[in-house]
Amino acid sequence: MIAERKDDHVRFAAEQQRHLGGYNQFDEVSFVHHALAGIDRSDASLATRFGGMEWKVPLYINAMTGGSVRTGAINRDLAIAARETGVPIATGSMSAYFADEAVADTFSVLRHENPDGFIMANINANASVEKARRAVDLLQADALQIHLNVIQETVMPEGDRSFSSWGPQIEKIADGVDVPVIVKEVGFGLSRETVSALREMGVRVVDVAGRGGTDFARIENDRRKHADYSYLNGWGQSAPACLLDSQDAGIPVLASGGVRNPLDVVRGLALGAAAVGVSGGFLRTVLDGGPSALINQITTWLDQVEALMTALGARTPSDLSRCDVLVHGDLRTFCADRGIDTHRLATRSRSYDTAHKTVGGTA
Ligand code: FNR
Repeated sequence: MIAERKDDHVRFAAEQQRHLGGYNQFDEVSFVHHALAGIDRSDASLATRFGGMEWKVPLYINAMTGGSVRTGAINRDLAIAARETGVPIATGSMSAYFADEAVADTFSVLRHENPDGFIMANINANASVEKARRAVDLLQADALQIHLNVIQETVMPEGDRSFSSWGPQIEKIADGVDVPVIVKEVGFGLSRETVSALREMGVRVVDVAGRGGTDFARIENDRRKHADYSYLNGWGQSAPACLLDSQDAGIPVLASGGVRNPLDVVRGLALGAAAVGVSGGFLRTVLDGGPSALINQITTWLDQVEALMTALGARTPSDLSRCDVLVHGDLRTFCADRGIDTHRLATRSRSYDTAHKTVGGTA
């Protein structure tokens, strides 16, 4: 049953990628162009530090799969790409492993193929501390993701219907495992209120995983006979909205959901993300062209992220959060309604210019 669901998710998510419209809310974020902001490429570095962790690059392959023969093979290909490019990688939910240890290999292949990489295990918020530890042990994981997916469970025919234990359980897991805990959504976004609550629970890092890419309301509707909940397709907040909402929330934030290209990565970093994750887009690449296609794509993206940082005058990913950013369209309305100061965002480099004698950049 679980194995079948995992195969369904991959099939429907890949199908969705082929029909995604070009536009999403990352398009409502642009940079003020400062023609003299550029620095030397040799001065730009992709390394990012947050929540006690250090990653060589601010890009990662986010949680997807495992639990069936087919998804184990996909994890193998993703792990090879992660190993060859140095990007961190997460497994999909390990509930299939808790239900049947025979599928352990479909998850542990991530470590087997990538012995020195940064690997994140992934569990649901109902899991016991003991299961959380087993998940970390199986992968010798460097961090543990816990996913929040209330809308997905609601639409999923066989999904959970009780959610009140999630908060207390997250607190216990965060206290009970030896690796950093990252709490993420699955494509509906995290509000500032949720992010603040998670910080209070002892969570080290959050991943907003917003709307705009893979839509799990749609995927679960596709799995229902009558798509009864199709009015929920498109639910939630985008990653740019979540990042703006959670500025200064006092906890490192990762961005994912709807990231399509290197400019979206740079936009996410400029809105305060410590790193940016991709699931559906990379799944499509690996299904179409195998690990070598994904290695090419990630290598190109990293090269271009560094090129864009250089043009924008950012020596490090976190320097991008000093660049002047314009917010347009519905995202601007979201900012107005949530009390987010877009004028400050559009002029924030000024406080650095005088000190550093650059124009709009951060050098
Ligand atoms: C996912 N995602 C996911 N997330 C999670 O925490 N546990 C999981 O098991 C899964 N499973 C899963 C399967 C497939 C096939 C996809 C494409 C995605 C959600 C994922 O990590 C991410 O939050 C969303 O997909 C949004 O990012 P993209 O796809 O728009 O880049």
